[in-house]
Amino acid sequence: MSTESVDFGIVGMGVMGKNLLLNIADNGFSVIGLDKDPEKIAPLVETGQSSVQATTSANEFLSSLESPRKIMMLVPAGAAVDAVIEELLPHLDEGDLLMDGGNSYFPDTDRRYQMLTEKGIQYMGVGISGGEEGARHGPSMMPGGSAKAYDMVGPILEAAAAKVDSEPCVTFIGKKSAGNYVKMVHNGIEYALMQLISESYHLMKSGFGLTDTDLKAVYDSWETGELSSFLMEITADIFGKKEEDGSDLILNRILDSARQKGTGKWTSQNAMDLQVPAPTIDMAVMVRDMSAHKKERIAADAVFKNETEPVQVDEELIKKVEHALHFSFITAFAQGFSMIKAASEAYNYGVNLADVAKIWRGGCIIRADMLEEFRRIFAEDPSINNIMVDDRLAGKLVEYQKDARYCIKIGLDAQIPLPAMMASVSYFDLYKSGWLPVNLIQAQRDYFGAHTYERTDKEGTFHTNWK
Ligand code: 6PG
Repeated sequence: MSTESVDFGIVGMGVMGKNLLLNIADNGFSVIGLDKDPEKIAPLVETGQSSVQATTSANEFLSSLESPRKIMMLVPAGAAVDAVIEELLPHLDEGDLLMDGGNSYFPDTDRRYQMLTEKGIQYMGVGISGGEEGARHGPSMMPGGSAKAYDMVGPILEAAAAKVDSEPCVTFIGKKSAGNYVKMVHNGIEYALMQLISESYHLMKSGFGLTDTDLKAVYDSWETGELSSFLMEITADIFGKKEEDGSDLILNRILDSARQKGTGKWTSQNAMDLQVPAPTIDMAVMVRDMSAHKKERIAADAVFKNETEPVQVDEELIKKVEHALHFSFITAFAQGFSMIKAASEAYNYGVNLADVAKIWRGGCIIRADMLEEFRRIFAEDPSINNIMVDDRLAGKLVEYQKDARYCIKIGLDAQIPLPAMMASVSYFDLYKSGWLPVNLIQAQRDYFGAHTYERTDKEGTFHTNWK
């Protein structure tokens, strides 16, 4: 083992930890990995690269690192993070920097941040997106905590991050748990986009009768069009991947019951806490929940058998679906950005939304060409309440909403559920309703519970004896 002090340490040599370690080493920094499992460190020891070290000994790991130490944990969110902190803490020195690179629940990060800051240890929650490939060749990273702590590792993270137009997809996101919060919302948007794409698949497969080959051609064309994004790219690939014997698409053999690790649910829960509507994300979480009830769905399918004829399809109709998806993608991003804006105010994060759009353009799962437009919007008007009211984007929404409504009508007639697309249109309709009929709700609340109401013609709160 080298006696030179090492620039950066990572705890947890699972898929993400190992790949990020190698990525940082490729960028000219010396690194050391720590894992209790000798099998996990073996491949790293075997690289023979002098800048890459790995050990099962926490003592060796800590004594190898240059002071102040820069350590990132890449262990499963939850108890494992607390366990690593507990183990390392007695051996850390004032000024050392500990980072959590997992999908931690942001209130956990706040708790850890406070506890460690009081002990003189710098702490950052770093949202990391891009999976295995991203970790190895350039993820998008969302570090939150203190700007001072970011300065200690900024050059290392910037070197390892994905680049778009030579700009790294990482920047200081904001105070305390801002990094984990923004990553949580990233995942909420990820759920929404994936759900919307799967609804387009359902509509075109069951509603239009498109074959797998047709669907492959559609997603191939969308991948390079206005919807160009990582998720569209992998969707096109999935429609091209057959079983080894060539008999069928692997997709057709995959159980229709989607799992989840919780980040989408946290996004919806927090949206409700903040009273920021995020219905497209809510619907995406709801569909994953519904999908888990496979047996009940099959039984109900037999009761309510639906037999509708596929509608006639032509290029114009496919274009309408593309526009409907584009419209819905924009509303999903609008909901996510609105949440971050509200959270930044409520939790005093100090997030710059143009920066968020900038670092989501590459490396992460929701990277998409349209983020360039969102970045422009926030750069031009950092205080904009909702991207949907930007002049140029509003023009697109007005144009594409017609196609979203058209597709939804087909879905309704054919009994094909399109909840996320419908939620997107409802979100748009609600947001642009200068008047909503909730005066009636106020009156009803006052009627049965004397909850009082406000009036449009005079100040104050009022109660009526309604009987
Ligand atoms: C990413 C992903 C990553 C993970 C998801 C999966 O940005 O790289 O979001 O964090 O793949 O958390 O989440 P579910 O298991 O909840 O779908």
